[in-house]
Amino acid sequence: MERRWKTIIEPFKIKAVEPLGFTTREERENILREAGYNVFAIPADKVLIDLLTDSGTSAMSAEQWACLMRGDESYAGARSFYRFEKAVRDLTGYRHVLPVHQGRAAERILMGVTGGPDKVFLSNSHFDTTRANVESTGAQALDLPVAGALDFAVPAPFKGDMDVRALEANIRELGAGRVPMIIMTLTNNSLGGQPASMKNLREVSEVARHYKIPLILDVARFAENAFFIKLREAGYASRPVAEIAREMFSYGDGCMMSAKKDALVNIGGFLALNHDDWVRRAREVLILGEGFPTYGGLAGRDLEAMARGLEEVLDEQYLTYRLRSIEYLGEGLRKAGVPIVEPPGGHAVYVDARRFLPHIPREQFPAQALVCELYLTAGVRSVEIGSLMFGPEARMELVRLAIPRRVYTQSHVDFLIEVFADLTRRAGGVRGLRLLESTPSLRHFTARLTPQPA
Ligand code: F0G
Repeated sequence: MERRWKTIIEPFKIKAVEPLGFTTREERENILREAGYNVFAIPADKVLIDLLTDSGTSAMSAEQWACLMRGDESYAGARSFYRFEKAVRDLTGYRHVLPVHQGRAAERILMGVTGGPDKVFLSNSHFDTTRANVESTGAQALDLPVAGALDFAVPAPFKGDMDVRALEANIRELGAGRVPMIIMTLTNNSLGGQPASMKNLREVSEVARHYKIPLILDVARFAENAFFIKLREAGYASRPVAEIAREMFSYGDGCMMSAKKDALVNIGGFLALNHDDWVRRAREVLILGEGFPTYGGLAGRDLEAMARGLEEVLDEQYLTYRLRSIEYLGEGLRKAGVPIVEPPGGHAVYVDARRFLPHIPREQFPAQALVCELYLTAGVRSVEIGSLMFGPEARMELVRLAIPRRVYTQSHVDFLIEVFADLTRRAGGVRGLRLLESTPSLRHFTARLTPQPA
């Protein structure tokens, strides 16, 4: 398209539609009470706009739906596996490709093979399931985000970077033998969906190579990260995004992917590695828990759809629309006076509940209180990233508004902005919450809460 138009449009038309879940305020009050003030327990058809996650919620393309019919469901050596394996190899350059049913299966397998007591995993930030899978082996997960990553009000182009000095200092202090791998999460989901720069990836890989520690990329949102590099990093503006993505992968020794994000599918994932010994052991675990290595817990049709999604996601019209639509929501919220993590991320806008609801102390879960208020007000479902998710040592109280890919249109986003403008005026009246019951790990999924008395 010529550059003269300033309106960036959704680069698709809609072929199948689903109704939204309209409810009354009274219904929502009952639903929320029954759900124990935990939005994971709300039936999805009682949600108007669902921003709980961008994971597994993408709309597939007509071509991906056609892929489902082309799926080869042979137990071993399915044609769909070879197509999938080629797509992953062409993209990543890694030798061995193991399909898994979703990202955390790749984590469980890889951490199982490499973790153990006394080991320490170093990352720009471990996603919560990654951390849980590290810790379940008895190992420790240490986050080393770049300085400024937690200054949510201050924008910077690459707040997903790793602190390279801290990385090297930790390796020296621990001894390289205790560090099974360095993990770069692209984009950095736990700290605002922020991208890492190519420069940072290159520097981290130099450290990794120097100490002979494998660098593993968590690439759930690799295409968004690559497009941020194209938009923001000197020297990349005229490079095709697919080439930028391949350069990113070239600095790693392998990757884990939740395909439920940037492979534009509803289920799937993979582990791709160069390390022969890890792969040998990972395959054994894969067979035990996921399935034979040419399907890994998925149907042949899922492998076809993933292969196609990995290509579609690198379409620059799509990525232009994708990052612009998140930025548009960020601009609207900022204008409405809502404190957000600056700049908006690649898959979500994160609201800083500590600043939005300063009257609610952190023991009363300010971010979860905002999640509940948003649902009560307009049936919008979001997710807490704060004390409920991480416990008392949480370094943030954020509400993530994750945008499913190719699902909502601009008027849905305009509606959200209007809802937040209303919330801004009533913020002082929002009450905190008290925890009634929870589990020790990943407690945000199952916790039950109750509002503080007025
Ligand atoms: N890594 C990152 C960066 C993620 O964001 C996720 C999932 C995973 C790994 C695990 O993948 O869900 O397929 O098992 N993130 C989802 C979210 C759940 O809502 O952000 P999975």
